[in-house]
Amino acid sequence: MTKPALDVFPLSERLAGMKASSTLAAMQKAQAMRAAGVDVVDLGAGEPDFDTPEHIKRAAEEALRAGETKYTATGGTPALQEAIIGYYEREFGARYDTPEVMATAGGKQAIFNAVVSLVNAGDEVLIAKPYWVTFPEIVKFAGAIPVFIETEETDFQLTAEQVKRAITPRTKLIIINSPSNPSGRVIPPAEFRKIMEVVAERGIFAVSDECYLRFVYSPSEVFSASSLAPELRARLCIAGSFSKTYAMTGWRIGYALAPREWIKAMLLVQGHSTSNPNSIAQRAATEAFNGSQECVAKMLSEYGARREWLIKALDDIPGFDCFTPEGAFYAFPNVRGCLKGDVKTSGEFADKLLKDSQTVVTDGAGFGVGGYIRISYATSLDRLQEGVRRIRRVAEACVG
Ligand SMILES: Cc1ncc(COP(=O)(O)O)c(C=O)c1O
Repeated sequence: MTKPALDVFPLSERLAGMKASSTLAAMQKAQAMRAAGVDVVDLGAGEPDFDTPEHIKRAAEEALRAGETKYTATGGTPALQEAIIGYYEREFGARYDTPEVMATAGGKQAIFNAVVSLVNAGDEVLIAKPYWVTFPEIVKFAGAIPVFIETEETDFQLTAEQVKRAITPRTKLIIINSPSNPSGRVIPPAEFRKIMEVVAERGIFAVSDECYLRFVYSPSEVFSASSLAPELRARLCIAGSFSKTYAMTGWRIGYALAPREWIKAMLLVQGHSTSNPNSIAQRAATEAFNGSQECVAKMLSEYGARREWLIKALDDIPGFDCFTPEGAFYAFPNVRGCLKGDVKTSGEFADKLLKDSQTVVTDGAGFGVGGYIRISYATSLDRLQEGVRRIRRVAEACVG
């Protein structure tokens, strides 16, 4: 049987220019090498190395046994919606009503719903560099135009001034991600407020991707845009996720909080695509928000210890320059000092790390910023230390 040639197969024009996820590609590369028996150090992973906490798994088991295996309302069960509302009220003093919340199949679907239900063809959507790989792809899928904000001059800290400069009459939306994947940067609350004031003044909208909400290291503070004044929240959709906070990436469960008209449109999109998120995962997520938060504190403390060791160790590698990220579980070192001879780009440096030291990292160019690599510390300290030893050897050889 001959394979259809993709260039003649009549695929939707909407897919033109869309790229496959470079982070998933790095993960698959590591899996394939491991399966072939190679001793790989995988610092590419964008998911916790912890297992889902026991009490959350138990809730899922109970849901199965109780026959909670049917369709639910598109936006989730009343119990999960109440758990989300209760959590935001307890943690951030934010008050949301039921029509302002919906459950989704992961934070990714919340962002997808929010973007496709708001933008029109030709609208501009602002995205700060470096960005999570999915943001521009969703925007392109929706027929809109991603417009990137350069932030290297402020060490990848997005500022209200930069947002103001990037807005044009065609701007409809900005996607904000703090703590950021891949930089780990956290926007200070006062700056976040200023950004949202610009959003309100200029009449655009914002999606705040709070996927790494809880992963903020002292002295920086956890901040949710939900705690902003009502006039700022009127233009805001929060996309939330259980994936990282509770080590639940495979469960595919997240949520959105937004003005009711926006949620209504998002329910329309979701209702005619996936319908409700998985009913068992919904029960697990309800327990995650209603139950003890000790598991989150434990994981955060472990990530904090790894970060403490890692950033210093990376900064010490010849040719590396590594700022200290305030959140998430990634380091994002500048590796331009290693780009010499036949290693001209961070992509070639990442390839060399894989080939010469069987260590997986992610090229910053995939996040819109060449010259950097992303190193995930969602892996044990032992493996991190082994990985850094290997990276150091390759960097020393490059620098000469
Ligand atoms: C910045 C960011 N947002 C959203 C997501 C989506 O997570 P999920 O769909 O698993 O909830 C991810 C996952 O890697 C992410 O890194």
